[in-house]
Amino acid sequence: MLDLDVLIDEEKIQKRLEEMAKEIDSVYNGQSIIAICVLRGAIYFTVDLTKKMKTPIELDFIKASSYVGTESTGKIKMTLDINENIEGRDVLIIEDIIDTGYTLKYLRDYLLSKNPKSLRIAVLADKEERRKVEVPIDFTGFKIPNKFLVGYGFDYDNSYRNIPYIGYMKE
Ligand code: IMP
Ligand code: MG
Repeated sequence: MLDLDVLIDEEKIQKRLEEMAKEIDSVYNGQSIIAICVLRGAIYFTVDLTKKMKTPIELDFIKASSYVGTESTGKIKMTLDINENIEGRDVLIIEDIIDTGYTLKYLRDYLLSKNPKSLRIAVLADKEERRKVEVPIDFTGFKIPNKFLVGYGFDYDNSYRNIPYIGYMKE
């Protein structure tokens, strides 16, 4: 097992998601939306958040990854596309974390090219100090320090996503 410290426990996560769900519901005011979960990391966040929302949701999925070893250049490729037609629709991207910003910038530009009526972004965690490109974030769960997160969707070499709290690697 990994040696992890708890950054945000299960209770704190669920409490914050209640608040976020209310905030998001109040923006959409009962209109139906297409929520796009960014695989794989955002799956736990998406499930817990959307269950707390009252906004009617059509759920879709997208997947993107960066080319190995090119974090500095920010080259992203899409490895799974959405199924729904989002033209003229209210769209909410649900992502686990914004770090450098390259992934969300790529996904936002790609989805905007399909002419949605609106496009908003919800992230569970924001590592602000790591940002390389600016992306407008509409709903943020937690601002977090520059630590490597594991659990609640965050992986270490694709493992440990199912740890129920947000932990970080001890240094
Ligand atoms: P960005 O493109 O640099 O903003 O990075 C976004 C992606 O990097 C996220 O979707 C995560 O998959 C991954 N990532 C960034 N920070 C962490 C972390 O602390 N733990 C696990 N994955 C992370
Ligand atoms: Mg991810």
